[in-house]
Amino acid sequence: MKPVDLTLNRLEPVPTSWNSDMLKGMMISSELIQKRVGELADEIDRSMPDDKPVVVLSLLSGAFLFTADLVRHWRFSFELDFMGVSSYGKNVASGELSWTHPMQIDLKEKHVLVIDDILDTGQTLRKVTDKLHLSQPASLRTCVLLRKERQQPSEHSVDADFVGFFIPDQFVVGYGLDFALQFRQLPFIGVLDAHVTHTAND
Ligand code: PRP
Repeated sequence: MKPVDLTLNRLEPVPTSWNSDMLKGMMISSELIQKRVGELADEIDRSMPDDKPVVVLSLLSGAFLFTADLVRHWRFSFELDFMGVSSYGKNVASGELSWTHPMQIDLKEKHVLVIDDILDTGQTLRKVTDKLHLSQPASLRTCVLLRKERQQPSEHSVDADFVGFFIPDQFVVGYGLDFALQFRQLPFIGVLDAHVTHTAND
């Protein structure tokens, strides 16, 4: 099943109970997220090898809701772990990652699935997968809910194996994604109003 392409879609109004003058509109409703998460979970389930142990590795903080919803679909056995990673300077080739929480599990000879909320420049997933390959997993695949359409893979980035939605290049928040550590709890994906990002960039 192909990722849902929302790159040409118009925004919907933000649900009344979540209305905020910081949000320009809603890009993906809670219902559509849950439908697509179910499809992705089935797709991953069907393709998961059963010859070796499986590790699901969720990247904190943004992937916490996506991970929680995905894993509740699965009946196969797996170890679940979390790795804290935060990026800064992501618009330059030398953007640094800081590791904010170490994983606990040994990945050697295991099938590893990395879950993240969004692939923007692709640098985070690239650096994470480079690091994880050092642990010699049996296989290493990646799953993101959102992938920005503008991003083409380069030597500094990596593409994802499983993608929920292709989205336009806008500042999105909600369902785990934040702006200044806020908005992570929204059950939908919203778009931040331009006046907020401009103010923050001043
Ligand atoms: C966000 C997001 C991805 C990364 C994607 O993380 O959760 O991990 O940026 O960006 P990239 O593809 O350009 O590397 P962030 O560093 O903001 O931390 P967070 O998950 O705690 O919000």
